[in-house]
Amino acid sequence: MRARAALASAAAVLLLLVDGCGCAMYKVGDLDAWGVPPPSKPDVYKRWAKSVHLALGDSIWFLYPPSQDSVLQVTPQAFAACEVSDPVLKLDDGNSVFNLTTPGRFYYTSGAPGHCRKGQKLWVDVPMANGTYLPPSANDLAALAPAAAEAPTGFLSASAPAGAHPSAALRPVAAAGSVVAAAALSFAASLLL
Ligand SMILES: *[C@@H]1O[C@H](CO)[C@@H](O)[C@H](O)[C@H]1NC(C)=O
Ligand SMILES: *[C@@H]1O[C@H](CO)[C@@H](O)[C@H](O)[C@H]1NC(C)=O
Repeated sequence: MRARAALASAAAVLLLLVDGCGCAMYKVGDLDAWGVPPPSKPDVYKRWAKSVHLALGDSIWFLYPPSQDSVLQVTPQAFAACEVSDPVLKLDDGNSVFNLTTPGRFYYTSGAPGHCRKGQKLWVDVPMANGTYLPPSANDLAALAPAAAEAPTGFLSASAPAGAHPSAALRPVAAAGSVVAAAALSFAASLLL
């Protein structure tokens, strides 16, 4: 039953499947592509970040038209200022996967002119392997004064072990593998349902 529920959830949010590491790959924005938030959903990325419970080793996947957009990983300061000229990392192939291999808070924005200021930006918190979140750094606090108040639950306090995460049953299970494999597996999941 639980596996079935997890598959249903995976199908619903376009998410992917298991391999040995138990890592998940989450599609940013779920059914929405990576783009400027529409007026009807100005906070789509903030909501999305709240809706997922990332674990160390997971990946986040940005899908967008490569001729129109890109994804930059940026510093907290650059995120706050929408300064896109000197990113930590830039991916622009339209199908970009960032691997969350270090605990902490990570910042992403569009590299297309003006998109960051229109709200096409996202930050995520990645906990340590045991599920505990690192405290935000001074830079995090400075850059995100209003958002920093929203520390994730479990922040610096005992939190459930990863396997017992309240959302464990809902976690889209995914290999941080190829998107083609993921699509095939989603299809396989749909046959099971
Ligand atoms: C993420 O991991 C995958 C699989 O190991 C790798 O192919 C990809 O290049 C990595 N992405 C980045 C941005 O390092
Ligand atoms: C998780 O690991 C960190 C760093 O090793 C430690 O400080 C923290 O107390 C641990 N939390 C739990 C719930 O075990």
